Amino acid sequence: MTQTQTIRKCLFPVAGYGTRFLPATKSMPKEMLPVVNKPLIQYAVEEAMEAGINKMGFITGRGKRAIADYFDNNYELEHEIAGSSKEQNLSDINAVMDNGQFIFMRQREMLGLGHAILTGEPIIGDEPFAVILADDLCVAPLNQHKQKTDTLRAMSQLIDLYNQYQCCIVAIEEVPKEDTASYGIICGDEIAPGIYDVDDMVEKPKPADAPTNMAIIGRYVLTPQIFDYLRETKPGTNGEIQITDALKQVAKEERVIAVKFAGERFDCGSVEGFVQATNYFFEHEFKKSVN
Ligand code: G1P
Repeated sequence: MTQTQTIRKCLFPVAGYGTRFLPATKSMPKEMLPVVNKPLIQYAVEEAMEAGINKMGFITGRGKRAIADYFDNNYELEHEIAGSSKEQNLSDINAVMDNGQFIFMRQREMLGLGHAILTGEPIIGDEPFAVILADDLCVAPLNQHKQKTDTLRAMSQLIDLYNQYQCCIVAIEEVPKEDTASYGIICGDEIAPGIYDVDDMVEKPKPADAPTNMAIIGRYVLTPQIFDYLRETKPGTNGEIQITDALKQVAKEERVIAVKFAGERFDCGSVEGFVQATNYFFEHEFKKSVN
């Protein structure tokens, strides 16, 4: 690649079952669970838009139609509330719909995150792209007075680094050593504060086998070569095709950069993280918006 290509597209793998939230997720996608009054998937799409992306590709599965409906008009409802104060509750999602394009593909079999990303190849084609896992809800850093700063959310930070290094970029954060089996773990050389040149990665190692406690969180910028690597990747942890295994190969043959992003991340795939996110957004967004 000789010239930096703009990141225009983001993939959202959203086919998973969300079993940790049963029974709530029995008949609705986990990505539609609301943190205060907004579904997880909307936070993820807004983070991509903030980073300058407007083509959103969803890798969906059976039982996920509510996501497609969410990014579409609902004439009956809009007619019903037209002219009332309730209309403003739709302003954020309307802005998202007006400024984005939404593309949906079904992953027929759930063979892992790597497989989900490979399923999205027809949406992406031959250009670098972003991946956001909506379960990981990221917020921008606040200053010491708990106010917003100019720093944008994680995806914008990853894209800045992509523009600088023009290689695959992953977001990381330090996790307690006993939690390594829930994450992809990286190790590498720190080439600038919080920025690592990755030399190895391992998916969900037991604490005793983890090379570090630096965990990948659900934000990636990938070059289109990743699809070739994924085609060669054999099933790994849990018998699934893992993006971590494909990236490990990229790190060996090309380059992968990992960054400790600024801001906070809530693990909304767990009940505890979900409750923390709810408290955060109630305090920092919702209360302010109604006052
Ligand atoms: C996936 C990835 C893992 C990463 C995690 C971040 O795992 O496979 O490498 O650390 O997302 O949330 P999952 O949580 O889907 O099991």
